[in-house]
Amino acid sequence: MSQQSETWTVRDVLNWTSQKFAGLELPTPLLDAQLLIGSVLSLSKVQIYTQLDRPLIESERSLLRELVRRRLSGEPVAYLLSQKSWHDLDLFVDNRVLVPRPETETLLDVVLAICRHENRQPKKILDLCSGSGCLAIALARAYPEAQVVAVDISSEALEIAQINCERNSVTNIQLHKADVLLPETYADGLLSGPFDIIVSNPPYVSESEWLGCDVSVRCFEPKLALVGGEQGWLMPRLLLTQLSSSGLLAQAGVLGFELGISHPEVLSRELTSQLTIPFSEPMQAVACQRPVWEFPRNQWFAVKDYTQRSRFLFAVKDQL
Ligand SMILES: C[S@@+](CC[C@H](N)C(=O)[O-])C[C@H]1O[C@@H](n2cnc3c(N)ncnc32)[C@H](O)[C@@H]1O
Repeated sequence: MSQQSETWTVRDVLNWTSQKFAGLELPTPLLDAQLLIGSVLSLSKVQIYTQLDRPLIESERSLLRELVRRRLSGEPVAYLLSQKSWHDLDLFVDNRVLVPRPETETLLDVVLAICRHENRQPKKILDLCSGSGCLAIALARAYPEAQVVAVDISSEALEIAQINCERNSVTNIQLHKADVLLPETYADGLLSGPFDIIVSNPPYVSESEWLGCDVSVRCFEPKLALVGGEQGWLMPRLLLTQLSSSGLLAQAGVLGFELGISHPEVLSRELTSQLTIPFSEPMQAVACQRPVWEFPRNQWFAVKDYTQRSRFLFAVKDQL
């Protein structure tokens, strides 16, 4: 996009930007171009295509040029727009938090489906490692009568979660700064359970996987939100051990964790007989599309994501 005063229409900038992005092998070049152009011109995706002949004024071109430059350097679109649509939420995000991922929506959907099917009315909900607050806020909206507690070690992440509570008009959440790996976090009454739902999407990328991550992840998203240790499952293993001995899960509770690929199986081997809830034997990996009444009860089991990779660890205790 030249800086000279020739006329550039929406069509021109859409073609130019998406081709530039495709040239750098960004994964979703057209969508990224639509989102950036839409934000500069305050147009929806449909309006972009109904206003293809609209010329851009110089201030719009200069704003777009700057966003394209940052995107080409690898910065995630969500940070450029300070916004991420996730599940039914509109979230503020910047480089202080992980950009919520679509697979985390599967974790939420499975929890909601179990509760809906069994008419569970959770009163207390815990989100460990809450980041932007996506899981906690979605659950707080789904269960406005419930008290939701969201815990993160990062003050910066908690600031963003607070912004997102306000942005999504949610008042039934308490945000706590704490290290979920420390026994004190569970002992000092900070988290007063028992909780009917416990969810967590902890850091689970290994150091070596992180080094191999795309620049948009490695150079822009907080490492603290991603890396779970030398082996990615080390942090989730410790978290599960602490949580298991905490007694925080209600008698008829539901637990759901997002993990790395095949981590449920690794953890079932690493933690055999160490948790209060037993692992299914052999470890079952259930498709997330399966009806929830077919899910095992009173034992840990794996759930696959939409690409059929074992990614989630669940335990569903029977209702009394
Ligand atoms: C993978 S992000 C998940 C964020 C959010 N739940 C989501 O799904 O997008 C992990 C979060 O765990 C937090 N975290 C990392 N280590 C922690 C610890 N020891 N105790 C509490 N939170 C921790 C990070 O600050 C980060 O916000």
